Amino acid sequence: MVDGIVIPQGTLIYIPIRAVNTCTAIWGEDAEEFCPERWLNLPKAYHPSYSFLSFFAGPHTCIGKAMAIYEMKAILAGLIANFEFEPTHEGQQANHTAGITMRPTDGMPLRIKRIYRPY
Ligand code: HEM
Repeated sequence: MVDGIVIPQGTLIYIPIRAVNTCTAIWGEDAEEFCPERWLNLPKAYHPSYSFLSFFAGPHTCIGKAMAIYEMKAILAGLIANFEFEPTHEGQQANHTAGITMRPTDGMPLRIKRIYRPY
């Protein structure tokens, strides 16, 4: 029994990671929008384990989660400190695919320029 619902033994349950990650009841009406700032002011309904399931939760949660996040931050910091990124055309949008791993449908080509900083 889960939340008052009887689940027969052997039932295969699909946990919709993307639906949880973009649930408006947790994240608000702009849940589908790319808004990294939301992590600075988390909503009241946010739960540290169950509101963002990209790395899953519970006994089989990803053991590489912290490492993967540090790695992404380090790479991103290196990229934005050294390059400028621009869309290839006006109105370019990042439309994602639905799949086991998500990616932009068009590969999201960008114009990239090296920034030379005097140190
Ligand atoms: C962006 C990067 C990553 C994402 C999105 C991710 C996501 C996930 C997810 C969703 C699961 C649960 C799978 C399931 O139970 O069916 C998982 C499990 C796991 N991940 Fe990751 N992962 C990432 C990076 C890594 C890295 C860097 C490592 C190792 C250094 C790693 C090691 C593992 C292991 C060993 C499990 C199995 C845990 C278990 O079943 O007890 N992952 N990961």
